[in-house]
Amino acid sequence: MEDLRGAFAIVTGAAQGLGYAIARAYAQEGMRLALMDVQAERLAQVADELNAQGGDALPLVVDLADAADTERAAAQALAHFGTPRVLVHNAAILINRPFSELTLADWQREVNVILQAAFLLTKAVWPLMVTAGRGSLVYVSSMSGIKGFVNESAYCTAKHGLEGFMKCMALEGRPHNIAANTITPGMYMHTPMSERNYPDELKQKWVDPMLLTPAFVFLARQDATGVTGERLNAWELSTNPPA
Ligand SMILES: NC(=O)c1ccc[n+]([C@@H]2O[C@H](COP(=O)([O-])OP(=O)(O)OC[C@H]3O[C@@H](n4cnc5c(N)ncnc54)[C@H](O)[C@@H]3O)[C@@H](O)[C@H]2O)c1
Repeated sequence: MEDLRGAFAIVTGAAQGLGYAIARAYAQEGMRLALMDVQAERLAQVADELNAQGGDALPLVVDLADAADTERAAAQALAHFGTPRVLVHNAAILINRPFSELTLADWQREVNVILQAAFLLTKAVWPLMVTAGRGSLVYVSSMSGIKGFVNESAYCTAKHGLEGFMKCMALEGRPHNIAANTITPGMYMHTPMSERNYPDELKQKWVDPMLLTPAFVFLARQDATGVTGERLNAWELSTNPPA
């Protein structure tokens, strides 16, 4: 299996929850990390924690809802570490609100963090991956990427958009050996987002998101000769890894 030591990953939403777990798993593989999040203090703690354990993590505070700020953070990441092996766009917000109460500002914030940032981050890494002749684009999706849910009109729209974007990136990436996939947790996760949104019965079943991270390590090794154009299930991939 390919050694990921020294390979560079961008992970968004790395201050907590699933993104924090992915960052820890990648650091354990010896990967160099650009960690992006809007929560400055918490992100600095994560980077300090990983660097104290011998890691190489650069915290980049960014509002991924803001186009110029996203472009600035991406440029900083690439200037620092060079060509990423993998981009994991995991950051998202879920504003649980009936459509009648959802404002344009709510809509734009949710759609921009999930979808606009996917476009801008991919745009930033694409030329470098093309030149390198390989890369892996990973967009964290959800059941909301294929189904509708009450009070999730913006979130569902953006996650459905990610699925379409991934399919196009997989097709355009193939001649450049760039893989593109979405991945859905596939299991109830114990994260701050879940603490806010899960009913009590799901809180009985939730698992530590670290259990889902083997799937993300698997994806860091992909290029277009491997898995691409797929909607993957992190729980299945982590608990039944391909031989
Ligand atoms: N929690 C679940 O049950 C669940 C289910 C399906 C899919 N997901 C998806 O998994 C991913 C991780 O979810 P989680 O539960 O860890 O969420 P979380 O809310 O616990 O963490 C999300 C992270 O994204 C960051 N973020 C939010 N807005 C940002 C912005 N504007 N700029 C930069 N960073 C920003 C947050 O600060 C946070 O650190 C998301 O894409 C989510 O949609 C979660």
